[in-house]
Amino acid sequence: PLPILTSAPGKVILFGEHAAVYGEPAIAAAVSSLRTYLLVSNANDPNIIQLDFLDIKLTHQWECNDFSTIPTIQPSTKELDSTLLKSIDPLLSSFKSNPLHHQAALTFLYLFFSLIPNLKGLKFSVRSTLPVGAGLGSSASICVSLSTALLHLAKLISIPLNKAQLKLINDWAFIGEKCMHGNPSGIDNTVATYGNSILLNSQSHEIIDIDLPILLTYTKIPRSTKQLVSNVRHMYNSHHAIVSKILSSIGHITLESKDLLLADASDIDSLGELININQHLLQSINVSHPMIEKIIKLTNQFQIGYTKLTGAGGGGCTLTLLKKDVDRKDVDRFINILKKDYNFDVFETNLGGF
Ligand code: MEV
Repeated sequence: PLPILTSAPGKVILFGEHAAVYGEPAIAAAVSSLRTYLLVSNANDPNIIQLDFLDIKLTHQWECNDFSTIPTIQPSTKELDSTLLKSIDPLLSSFKSNPLHHQAALTFLYLFFSLIPNLKGLKFSVRSTLPVGAGLGSSASICVSLSTALLHLAKLISIPLNKAQLKLINDWAFIGEKCMHGNPSGIDNTVATYGNSILLNSQSHEIIDIDLPILLTYTKIPRSTKQLVSNVRHMYNSHHAIVSKILSSIGHITLESKDLLLADASDIDSLGELININQHLLQSINVSHPMIEKIIKLTNQFQIGYTKLTGAGGGGCTLTLLKKDVDRKDVDRFINILKKDYNFDVFETNLGGF
């Protein structure tokens, strides 16, 4: 039944990035205006599989004859299967010098061989309006779009999706995220699967209704989520007593903000205080960046709201929660400086949605 078109949103983490990797709670929300689309159509040769991922300039095709060495195994949706990983490796030789292409192709092939190893003659075209590597969950939205399409081709899900099928999509997207990032918390794929605003902890997730006006600033400073998560792990291991407390304090911020959001989401100034504390804690584990701090200074100078990094940090994106009585002229001046003087991208959006 081709073509198949799937899509999933990006996300913004309000509170709890990095701490989530250690099982602390986090709050994240879908950004439905920024998303990934995946089209599965017939390839121009029935014996090939094509991957066309224009946004990262990755176009490749594999001959299905080369797949004969891939063992038929049933990988678990919990752990990556090392036999499957090893057998995929020779198909990735042309991507060795480009880590982004390598991660994307590995994720694609791992999910492909896990779910539809015997299908041929398919073309997978990925397009994203999300800036890639910005901390807005582009990889998770790709993994959700991909797992949805593959599960549909494998006849394991059908429209309308029920609860169990959504969970299956999320589980396989999480496996995809593991291929991309090594040790993800699962926040990004969960938000990309379920939409809305979500409070997550290591066991479960709960949808919470929020509607907040924010600005997202993309610094275009490149960084790797995998590297930043591993740097924090290093600090956690070498200064355990201190860093574990910093991460659990971030968890407390998340819980307090949840109470605030449920009690009175219009109390922007109290939420703003929590944003400031969270940012300082993230700075202390070295995942901020001078440019992020520049954006915070400008936010304070124009008194328009509260800014913190969002996602893995180290560049990437910031979110600014706008004050209620903010003067529009000040917001425009702030945006102008970021765009003109720093060449950053600024998106105005509301959190939540699908
Ligand atoms: C990345 O969007 C968020 C991190 O907490 C990593 C993760 O949760 O997997 C930095």
